[in-house]
Parts: sequence; C-alpha cells; structure tokens
Amino acid sequence: MAKPANAMPLPNAAPPGAIVLIGFMGSGKSSVARLLARYLNREAIDLDKAVEQMTGSAVAHLFATQGEAAFRALETQALQDALQTSRIIATGGGVPTQASNRALLQQAPPGTCVVYLKAQPRTLATRIRRQPGKRPLIDGGAILNLEQTQARVEQLLAERAAHYEACAHIVIDTDRLRMPEVAQAIAAQLARV
Ligand code: S3P
Repeated sequence: MAKPANAMPLPNAAPPGAIVLIGFMGSGKSSVARLLARYLNREAIDLDKAVEQMTGSAVAHLFATQGEAAFRALETQALQDALQTSRIIATGGGVPTQASNRALLQQAPPGTCVVYLKAQPRTLATRIRRQPGKRPLIDGGAILNLEQTQARVEQLLAERAAHYEACAHIVIDTDRLRMPEVAQAIAAQLARV
C-alpha cells in the first residue's frame, strides 16, 4: 500500500548520533526536542534542565548568584556528556556563542546532526514574553514590553546569528510552523541526510 504523503519517517531513518537543536531563546528547542524524541523513539535531554539538576538551582538564579561564566562551564559539561549519546538535545540559546561548545559540536561523534531552529525577532520576542523572568539575558529581572523585548532580541541575535548558521547542518524556518510541524520537518530532513 502506498505511504500517505505526510507519513512520519521510520524511527531508524535518522543518523545514529545525537540530534542537537540550536537556536535563539524562544525558538522552540525544548518542545520540539520532546516531540522529535517521540517520533524517532529516542530520549530527549534539555541542557538547561541538566544544569538545574546538577546544581539544584534554576538557571536565572544561577546567573544571579554565580554569574554567567559559572553557568557556561556547567552547560559545556552537560553538552559534552549529551553528545556521547543518541539523544535529542535541546541546547540553551547561548551554546553556539562559546568557542568551546562550537569545538565540541565540530568534533562530535559521526552521525551527530545539528539543527538550527530559526525565527524572526518578533516571533522570538512574542514567545519569550510568555515565560516572564526565565531569560536573564533578555530582561535582567525587569518587566519588558513586546517592543523592548524585541529590541533586545534583535541586539543579541545580531551577535549570534552567524554562529547559529555556521554550526548547523540543517536550518528550519519556524516562523509559520507549529511545534509538531517543526519536528516533522526535521524528521523529514534527517531521513535524507
Ligand atoms: C540563554 C538561553 C537560555 C538559558 C540561559 C542563557 C542564552 O536557554 O540557557 O538563560 O544565552 O541564550 P533557552 O534558549 O532554552 O531559553
């Protein structure tokens, strides 16, 4: 029988290594990682949550009490461990900004695939504002309106966009897609890698 056009690829139709989701805060990495893990019958790991488990502290609290550098060191450790698995990894938005992390991604085991979830600043700002107080690099603890949030996103994204693009094997434009559609688009592209 012919396969329906929108059938999900078979679970073994993806490269065997970790699938690493990168992208700016609010690009949907955590939600998409969970969905993709279900489609591909693998486990998902969220690096922010891994750091929170290591320390017993929320990311925003870690930034406030120990500073960004301490957070970045833990994040790198979590990335290094996760890359040795075949999990779907939701990275924090700052992972590709660190040279040590870019080196880890470049030297990752064969079959590792890095996917950039790309979105426009307006989309990102709208999504970020749904979780106030969670992103210290956006609001620093203040309450920002949509325009202020978007301005901060634009500023940071200008510094980061080239790193996201350079690290990625696959780029998905997510602005017009719902999260399940993003996961399906990734699964379809992975089946062709
Ligand atoms: C950060 C993104 C956050 C978190 C931390 C720093 C960044 O993760 O790791 O607040 O530098 O972009 P999300 O991308 O999951 O929000």
